[in-house]
Amino acid sequence: MRDHRAAVAAPERHGAGRASRPRRYAMTPPTFFAVEYAINPWMDVTTPVDVELAHAQWEALRQTYRRLGHHVDVIEPVAGLPDMVYAANGGLIAGDVAIVARFRFAERAGESQAYAEWMSSLGHRPVTTRHVNEGQGDLLMIGETVLAGHGFRTDRRAHAEISAALRVPVVSLELVDPRFYHLDTALAVLDDRTIAFYPPAFSSAAQDRLRALFPDAIVVASADAYVLGLNVVSDGLHVVLPSAATGFAAQLRAAGFEPVGVELSELLKGGGSVKCCTLEVFP
Ligand code: ARG
Repeated sequence: MRDHRAAVAAPERHGAGRASRPRRYAMTPPTFFAVEYAINPWMDVTTPVDVELAHAQWEALRQTYRRLGHHVDVIEPVAGLPDMVYAANGGLIAGDVAIVARFRFAERAGESQAYAEWMSSLGHRPVTTRHVNEGQGDLLMIGETVLAGHGFRTDRRAHAEISAALRVPVVSLELVDPRFYHLDTALAVLDDRTIAFYPPAFSSAAQDRLRALFPDAIVVASADAYVLGLNVVSDGLHVVLPSAATGFAAQLRAAGFEPVGVELSELLKGGGSVKCCTLEVFP
């Protein structure tokens, strides 16, 4: 027999189960942002970039986090490093361990030193890896586990290094579509147990793994994935996402999250959006 009271209460209960946790983020302003080279399919060096607009959009993102009650550290940008605005790639800090990125492409190699200096200024002694790791672009913490992408940027061999440094299990996931070259373009961590992802971006083994680990995962449509709709930052309740990802926003709302859309059209020209611009510092 169906309990009709439970059925009526269901949507509210669903929403009430979500809770936000205050977060600490770090962001690098797009002072020197440009698309001067193309290292992913989103970048087109012939498309002009409006740096002033990029800055206004970046600032609106920072204010969004502050309004939601989060702390935002600002990292000093460096001239000649136009992709430094994608702070997620700078590394991975969790507790007393700070892993600094080792970049795939020479164009971004100089950022490692800049992010290492920032980590040192926080009192860390940054750890380097022997193999390429592009920080939180490919290394997403979910609870006490790291979901780790490989295939385009981060070297699969770095996953074991990350696991040893952080003393946590790492789940390796192979990316197969160059438009989704970092894990954070194809998979979003929404809370300690919940993800959203775009299956075609992953090898079939990785898809199977994700379905087994996260049977309740939100599966997003191509229309949302192709505006980098999965490149989001969640505090467990509010999900800051690209405003063009309207289908995903509706799915989030139905699942009890509160989508907060932001416009980052200029940063999309470099192949990044909300999450790319945000490095979370885990306690
Ligand atoms: N232009 C940058 C690159 O290709 C964009 C990085 C985006 N960052 C990210 N976390 N997905 O390296």
